[in-house]
Amino acid sequence: MKKIVVLISGRGSNLRAVVEARIAQAEIVAVISNQANAQGLQWAAEQGLTTHVIEHSKFIDREEFDHTLIRLIDGYQPDLVLLAGFMRILSSEFCLHYAGKLINIHPSLLPSFPGLHTHERALESGCRLAGCTIHFVTPKLDGGPIIAQGAVPIFDHDTVETLAQRVLKIEHQLLPQVVNDFVSDRLEIKGNRVIRHSDATQDEEANLLN
Ligand code: GAR
Repeated sequence: MKKIVVLISGRGSNLRAVVEARIAQAEIVAVISNQANAQGLQWAAEQGLTTHVIEHSKFIDREEFDHTLIRLIDGYQPDLVLLAGFMRILSSEFCLHYAGKLINIHPSLLPSFPGLHTHERALESGCRLAGCTIHFVTPKLDGGPIIAQGAVPIFDHDTVETLAQRVLKIEHQLLPQVVNDFVSDRLEIKGNRVIRHSDATQDEEANLLN
């Protein structure tokens, strides 16, 4: 069983998608939010998950907040730290501390539109495709090795809301798949790329080694 700590800031629909996927090798050991009133936190508690709040506004700087977060997370000795709608920029120290086991979901087709307001920017830029990216986190904002992407069309009549809804649907499909791949040890980081080993490849490799 692989232990997962999930960080959220709001609605928590991606957390919910992961929980409801009932991934065989995955145990969510804690859900942490930087916002006391995060909707997703209440939902998580109702599911019987352990929840914590660490309000960033109560800390003098980012480093202090991140240190407290690290102490809390490390208490769980997680295999994976999942940023599922966590709306805080994390320090380099935090990103490096969890290198290779920190995954983020971002609502754009990276490297286009890192940061905030991704759907507005995709619409303003006249893009015909939008989507989401799931990636390993490095100190470069939204710049780590890409694990998976899902694309959706942008229609002429789209608004930020209709586009966000369409993108969110594929986020909910893709995130549980990636978590499943991670806990099944199928993901290998090679430079800036992520190789996904299917079971067949692993079997083949095992055969070659024998
Ligand atoms: C999702 O769209 C996720 O991609 C985005 O926040 C939303 C959270 O929704 N994440 C970011 O923008 C990270 N920079 P949720 O709380 O319903 O899962």
